Amino acid sequence: MQTTILITGATGTVGREVVKELSVLGEDVRIRAGVHSVVKGENLKRLPGVELVEVEFDEPESLEAAFTHIDKLFLITPFTENQVAWCKTLVDKAKSSGVKHIVKLSALGAGSEPGITLGNWHREMEQYIEESGIPYTFLRPASFMQNFSNYSGESIKQQGKFYQPTGEGKAGYVDVNDIAKVAVQVLLTEGHENKIYTLTGPEALSNAEIAQILSEVTNNEVSFVDVPEDAARQVMVEQMPGWMADAMLELYALQRAGQASTVDNTIEIVTGDKPNTFRDFALTHKSAFC
Ligand SMILES: NC(=O)c1ccc[n+]([C@@H]2O[C@H](COP(=O)([O-])OP(=O)(O)OC[C@H]3O[C@@H](n4cnc5c(N)ncnc54)[C@H](OP(=O)(O)O)[C@@H]3O)[C@@H](O)[C@H]2O)c1
Repeated sequence: MQTTILITGATGTVGREVVKELSVLGEDVRIRAGVHSVVKGENLKRLPGVELVEVEFDEPESLEAAFTHIDKLFLITPFTENQVAWCKTLVDKAKSSGVKHIVKLSALGAGSEPGITLGNWHREMEQYIEESGIPYTFLRPASFMQNFSNYSGESIKQQGKFYQPTGEGKAGYVDVNDIAKVAVQVLLTEGHENKIYTLTGPEALSNAEIAQILSEVTNNEVSFVDVPEDAARQVMVEQMPGWMADAMLELYALQRAGQASTVDNTIEIVTGDKPNTFRDFALTHKSAFC
C-alpha cells in the first residue's frame, strides 16, 4: 500500500536528507516536501516520488494542500521564537486531516529539569503532540556535525580557526544523515509509535578534538578558539536577535559544563548500522572545510 508522507522544513539541514533517503525507496512511498521557498526546493523536485508544496507556517490556509491525503507527518520547525505556535498549528491540522503518525524532530535534553529555553520549547511541542492522541515518535538528536560545515566552514577555510564558548566540554555530535536513516525506519516500519529516541554519534568529542580531526582530514592546521561567553555574545548579537544568541549560549554553557556528552546506541538499534564518526563526516564533507 502506498504511504504519503509530508515533511515540513523540507529544504533545511534535516528535511532535505529525509526527503533524499525516502526518495530512493520506490513507488510505495510518496513524498510531499513542504517548502517555504519553492526556489530552494528546486533540487528536491528532481528526486523520484517527490512533489513540492508551498508551506508558510504563518498562513494556516497554506497548509490545506500540504495536508490533503497525508498518512504521516515528519514535523520540523525551524529555530525561531514562533516554533511552538507553528508546531501547534501543524498538530491541529494533522488531527483534523486524520494523520496517523507524527515523527517530530526534537532535541537532546527536551524535558530535562530545570531545562534551557530550546529544550523547554521542544518539550512543550512534544506534550502538545502527546495530548493530540496521534501516535508519535520524538527524535531527540544531539548537536549536528553539520553545524561545523554550516556555520564554521568559512572561518575554518579562511583563518584555520573556529570559535565557541565551550571550553573542554564534549558533545555527542551526530551526523544528520544518520538522523535521516532513523527517520526512514520510524516512518516506514512498525513498532516505533509513542517512543522517544535519543540520537547521538558514537563518541563524545571536545572541540579541540574536532579541530584535531579537521586538521588531519584537510591537511591544514585547524584550531578551536575557546571564547569567553561575554565576548561570544557581543559578536553573536551582531549576527542574530538577542533571544537567539541567549538560547545558543545556554546550549554552549551546557556543553562547557560537561552536560552534552551523552552517547547513545539508538541509531544502531533502529538502523542496524553504526552511526558515522566525526572523521567519517569530515571526510564526506571535506570541501566545506578546505
Ligand atoms: N542544529 C542542531 O545542532 C540541532 C540539534 C538538535 C535539534 N535541532 C532542532 O532542529 C530543528 C531545525 O532543523 P534544521 O536544522 O533542519 O532546520 P533548518 O536547516 O534551519 O531549516 C528550517 C526549514 O524550515 C523552513 N522554514 C523557515 N521558516 C518557515 C516558515 N515561516 N514557514 C514554513 N517553513 C519555514 C526553512 O525554509 P526556508 O529556508 O526557505 O525559509 C527550512 O526548510 C530545530 O527545531 C532545532 O531545535 C537542531
